[in-house]
Amino acid sequence: MAHPASPTVARRCGPLAGAIRVPGDKSISHRALMLGALAVGRTEITGLLEGEDVLATAAALNALGASITRNGDGQWTVYGIGVGALAEPENLLDLGNSGTAARLLLGMLATHPITAFVTGDASLRRRPMGRVVEPLSRFGARFVSREGGRLPLAVSGAADPIPIVYRLPVPSAQVKSAVLLAGLNTPGATTVIERQPTRDHTERMLRHFGAAVSTEPEDGGGLRVTVEGFPEMSAAPIIVPGDPSSAAFPLVAGLIVPGSDVTVEGVGINPLRTGLLECLSEMGADIALVNHREEGGEPVADIRARAGTLTGADIPAERAPRMIDEYPILAVAAACARGRTVMRGLAELRVKESDRLSAIATGLDQCGVRVMVEGDDLIVEGADNFPAGGAMIETRLDHRMAMAFLVLGLAANEPVRIDDVAPIATSFPGFIELMNRLGAAIGEAE
Ligand code: S3P
Repeated sequence: MAHPASPTVARRCGPLAGAIRVPGDKSISHRALMLGALAVGRTEITGLLEGEDVLATAAALNALGASITRNGDGQWTVYGIGVGALAEPENLLDLGNSGTAARLLLGMLATHPITAFVTGDASLRRRPMGRVVEPLSRFGARFVSREGGRLPLAVSGAADPIPIVYRLPVPSAQVKSAVLLAGLNTPGATTVIERQPTRDHTERMLRHFGAAVSTEPEDGGGLRVTVEGFPEMSAAPIIVPGDPSSAAFPLVAGLIVPGSDVTVEGVGINPLRTGLLECLSEMGADIALVNHREEGGEPVADIRARAGTLTGADIPAERAPRMIDEYPILAVAAACARGRTVMRGLAELRVKESDRLSAIATGLDQCGVRVMVEGDDLIVEGADNFPAGGAMIETRLDHRMAMAFLVLGLAANEPVRIDDVAPIATSFPGFIELMNRLGAAIGEAE
């Protein structure tokens, strides 16, 4: 998807205050559409994220024979066709900016006897697909891709797939999910072994639709996740919670803009997504979770953040899978904290929508923050007050970089400009308006 560049500026503002909701969880929204398409019957979804990434998944599934319609704000219906029934798409599947859409759909396609051609935007075409091509080939699927398994690629799914046992070489919920989804149209049991637990939305939702999925501890640590092939999946309603990765931006803004008191309601607090909240608490943040409940098989709460002094912390590598998308905004919090924050084990950040390790370091440095990358670790020396700001940040087709640096601009001494905010629409449509409703000062750069 082409984005017209639209430079935007965030200025220091007075206290942020209010209670808001953020759009639906991106990971869960993709899965609701995909699993709804593989279940037989009519799945009603409430709270679906209507961001570009999820809309790309909906369009691809329509091209594969499912029927997906929008009934109103976040209200969508999926008429599922069942496991094994995907039809060959007539045209390229363009998944825009979305790694989750590309990798999970490749999993589904790998065990359907059809051929599909898959591509994405400039960011997605740079990202590694070899990590799913490798295990999916073991089912018997054939791929023709650019160097390094990059998109565009062609996949011909296996007509007689073979179940596999696969040990994840990288902690990735996308790779785990791709293998599990391929296992659905495969006889017997397909197993993924993960050394470090990653988000388990696929497993939870498969069970919700009636598939047999077991999760057991693996000898020597980690988890062994097994799905039985050819499940009877039937349509089931889905309620999508607010995305904790989106809530992170107004919450951190509430912590660093003096005098603020911000509540985000109805946020998913799946323990495999709450690493950021742990880090912020260790940094001394005033964060409270209230009104705990369960919605659609996922734990949910309202989260309140009040401004105060933050202190640097040492963030262990083991926590990375539970907060992998939150490092840009954690680095912003660290830049406003007292003392040094060390974020360890961030190799996976190099293969996100942009090379986030380098993008965070460059952006903070431009804003006058002392920052270092040592191997796969990021070290931020807190300003113990307000960072200088005054920079123009390159978004690099990365929504989370844009949002993180807009939040930094709300506390910095000088305004922070962002070259292109259009990618924010992939995950958080309405972000700027929502922040301004809380009292932020984000507007078009002159
Ligand atoms: C996601 C998994 C993570 C995350 C991405 C969404 C998912 O990617 O960064 O935004 O929905 O499974 P990896 O699996 O590459 O870590």
